[in-house]
Amino acid sequence: MDAILKIKLNNELATKIFAQKLAKCAADIKKSVVIYLSGEIGSGKTTLARGFIQYFGFNKVKSPTYSLLENYKNELINIVHIDCYRLNSPIELDYIGIREYLTNNTIQLIEWAEIGINKISQADLIIKLSDNDNQKGRIIEIIFCSKLGEKFKKYL
Ligand SMILES: Nc1ncnc2c1ncn2[C@@H]1O[C@H](COP(=O)(O)OP(=O)(O)O)[C@@H](O)[C@H]1O
Ligand SMILES: [Mg+2]
Repeated sequence: MDAILKIKLNNELATKIFAQKLAKCAADIKKSVVIYLSGEIGSGKTTLARGFIQYFGFNKVKSPTYSLLENYKNELINIVHIDCYRLNSPIELDYIGIREYLTNNTIQLIEWAEIGINKISQADLIIKLSDNDNQKGRIIEIIFCSKLGEKFKKYL
């Protein structure tokens, strides 16, 4: 079974700090990495992605719910942030030219990956976000699902 790490994030700031730590790991590891962000609407997937992307100096990060895909690229990093929630069928990912983005040296942050199944890359990390038993904050479970994903374990 894949290893799982469970972390409590008491508020939005904690989510941001965690996201930046994750981004630093990704920057240090310097490989293409695929991260699924899973959880109900409002669980904090976009908040986490935003913190991750902002770490690399992109200040304005909007939710890709309507555009499906946002690309953040500079001389340091290439990130695609995808939200499959509004897809009617995974084949729509072909129409928006997803393949062009799924090249080497790209970090992929994917919300609602289960809807894009077959058209998106296998995950290295799955981050499941959920409520904290009616208390404030969120619980996240990180599943390390590849050799590359495992490399994150010692940093987080
Ligand atoms: N750790 C946290 N504790 C409490 N609220 C949080 C936490 N992380 C994010 N939030 C809040 O939860 C909401 C999540 O929205 P969003 O990130 O758009 O969710 P999703 O993309 O999963 O639909 C935001 O209002 C955000 O401020
Ligand atoms: Mg979202």
